[in-house]
Amino acid sequence: MRILILGSGGREHSLAWAIAQNPICEKLFCIPGNAGISKIAECFDVDINNQRLIVDFCIKKEIDFVVIGPEAPLASGVSDALRNQNIKTFGPSKMASKLESSKSFTKSFCKKANIPTADFQIFSSLELAIKYISKAEFPIVIKADGLASGKGVFIASNSYEAIEKTKEIFNGVVDGSGNKVVIEEFLHGQEVSYFVLSDGKRFIPICSVQDYKKAFDGDLGPNTGGMGAICPAPHFPPEIENKVLKNIIKPTIEKMKQQGTPYIGVLYAGLMISNGEPYLIEYNVRFGDPECQAIMVRIGGQILDLLLHCCEGTLDNASTKWAQDHSLVIVLASKGYPDRYKIGSHIPNLKNFQSESNVEIFHAGTSIKNRKIISSGGRVLNLTVKANNLQDARERAYNLLKEWHWKEGYFRKDIGLI
Ligand code: AMP
Ligand code: GLY
Repeated sequence: MRILILGSGGREHSLAWAIAQNPICEKLFCIPGNAGISKIAECFDVDINNQRLIVDFCIKKEIDFVVIGPEAPLASGVSDALRNQNIKTFGPSKMASKLESSKSFTKSFCKKANIPTADFQIFSSLELAIKYISKAEFPIVIKADGLASGKGVFIASNSYEAIEKTKEIFNGVVDGSGNKVVIEEFLHGQEVSYFVLSDGKRFIPICSVQDYKKAFDGDLGPNTGGMGAICPAPHFPPEIENKVLKNIIKPTIEKMKQQGTPYIGVLYAGLMISNGEPYLIEYNVRFGDPECQAIMVRIGGQILDLLLHCCEGTLDNASTKWAQDHSLVIVLASKGYPDRYKIGSHIPNLKNFQSESNVEIFHAGTSIKNRKIISSGGRVLNLTVKANNLQDARERAYNLLKEWHWKEGYFRKDIGLI
């Protein structure tokens, strides 16, 4: 099979790494890719949100299967455009992608399908939102409706903050701003990312992952796309997983099918476990980053069979083999990320990592200049280690980093400390 992956992050590098291990994969392409992906796939610079250019590329290169990594092309309907040309594509339709691209859609959906989530109100008018805020108990959570690259959610501890953020959203200052704001109850508890694959009718569980969202040790500093991950998530016993499957995932897949927008792809549930009860905080319609890297080193080449089963509607024939292992990802980011940072910094030699078994370096913001690898983004590399237990994975990863010095970069020292 000739396979194309869309995206350029650590997520897509790990997908490419896993897919390339499956003998069904004859040739791998990636748009746009990064320095790491270019070692295993032929990379091309095309706008991944431009449906016509992506369809033309697939026809010209005789692509048999497309795997869409990030949310933006899904939300804009690239998967629909490809399927309309009979190009097999992994990733939900534009309509089904609303589970990520519209928070008001998802909250209303939860209400209809009786899915446990934080209490909420949706506002289309600033005046009504302010009226609600003036009677609210704090903290409350203010959310822009649309895609906001992780920047559309604010936890307000008083009415002043809540009103300022709501005004910013209605004034279009915040990414993802639209004409709607979701205001919801603040939930206390433990956050877990949970992944299932669905073919539109059935689903199979993949696994749980704990993401480290804050920039600095001790969960301090600004929110980021994710500074590390461990898989499986601790604090996620089978009885909670069963509740998630029964009360959240099953009604979602059933209701999406019933509404005529079947969900085909990976469904990423952002959960809050509060007093032993799981609540849905948000859905994402893609693999998480860096969660995907943690999953791929555990699942390996069999992922390609599963992605194909989703697209062919044959998930009931699928089986997964999981070892009792654990994985851990440490994100190496440019100093200053998630705010201002410099690009173009030379990345020190990575050869030491390459000779280690069960250790992968997945690239994110990297490119090649004068045959050297340089940084080209905020999150740059993902050191990913697999071991029999979390403690061993953690020790191994941090020991490797002791001998590797990148002056312009930083990483969290507490990934896997629970
Ligand atoms: P979201 O983009 O909806 O996942 O929100 C980003 C982050 O905000 C989540 O990962 C949580 O840490 C936090 N958050 C969102 N909604 C809530 C909520 N209702 N209660 C507590 N924390 C929340
Ligand atoms: N790591 C969080 C996300 O991918 O949305």
